[in-house]
Amino acid sequence: MSPEPRCGRGAEIELTDKTRKIVGRGGGKLILLGEHAVVYGQPAVVAGLGKGVTAFALLGQEPTLELIDGSTGRSLARVRRGDDEPLARAFAAILETIAPDARVEVQATVDLPLGVGLGSSAAISAAVARALAKASGKADAFELVEAAVDAAEAVFHGTASGIDQAAALGGGLFIYRRTDGFPEETALHCRPITLLVCKAGKAAPTSEMVSSVAALNSRFPEHTRSIFESIGALAAAAPAALAAGEWDMLGELMNLNHGLLAALGVTTLELDHACHVARDAGALGAKLTGAGGGGCVYAVAPDNEEPVLKAWKERGWRTFRFELP
Ligand code: MEV
Repeated sequence: MSPEPRCGRGAEIELTDKTRKIVGRGGGKLILLGEHAVVYGQPAVVAGLGKGVTAFALLGQEPTLELIDGSTGRSLARVRRGDDEPLARAFAAILETIAPDARVEVQATVDLPLGVGLGSSAAISAAVARALAKASGKADAFELVEAAVDAAEAVFHGTASGIDQAAALGGGLFIYRRTDGFPEETALHCRPITLLVCKAGKAAPTSEMVSSVAALNSRFPEHTRSIFESIGALAAAAPAALAAGEWDMLGELMNLNHGLLAALGVTTLELDHACHVARDAGALGAKLTGAGGGGCVYAVAPDNEEPVLKAWKERGWRTFRFELP
């Protein structure tokens, strides 16, 4: 279980000249191993990212949510409660859970690429829920914030495991498992390592990828079960490799995990290509991260970081670096 309630962290009040802005924050995530299998009760290893979403709640307005690109300041989307699109439905779910009658305008500045498997939806939900909880005098209602983020993630993800919410609200590096509906998080130790990330195409909506695995699972339950168990065993082997800095071992676990995700049908030509490019440039391992169907791959290449990043950039892919722990 999580060692302490974590939902209140990341909410604060910021006083400006004329307004009282209430601020909430949520972080992105990178799944190192175990996505999809985690929905079926297997363990997964996930890292909260330093980057994420900051939401400002402005009181006394019609309930609206606007997403703003943190790097350009441009508006990415603006929805009203009652609009019929996933972002509006997720916003409505958060309002219903925390403050059904709140008159509040929320601006969420996003410092993560959207919809590429780095947990942007959970980060948005966490930031908005925290800001709303604070705005309605419920900053300490951790369970309410958690429930609101779960409700919003159900809109974005369908049957979600809860891993993105856990990373968005708590951050850190941990192994996550949901057993009989109860999430368990165990913090992990890790020798310093840089994770190289490449955005190789637009991702499909997570809910579609989760549904496609569910459909495969209902047609071939025996076969998918053994794939989920194999993925879980890879994730369970990762903490020892991370703690000891055994990057060769971590790389092999990643490569095996990518192959099993391919068996589940969630990789794409571009994601496979990006993994091969990274390995050819000297990465010890590369795999897709998140729900797949497009989006991001990550690689570990302690002795070849620049060649891997260069090889990805030459193909026109956007790259990022994240430091662990
Ligand atoms: C999405 O970030 C991870 C999935 O395993 C879905 C989930 O666990 O909710 C694909």
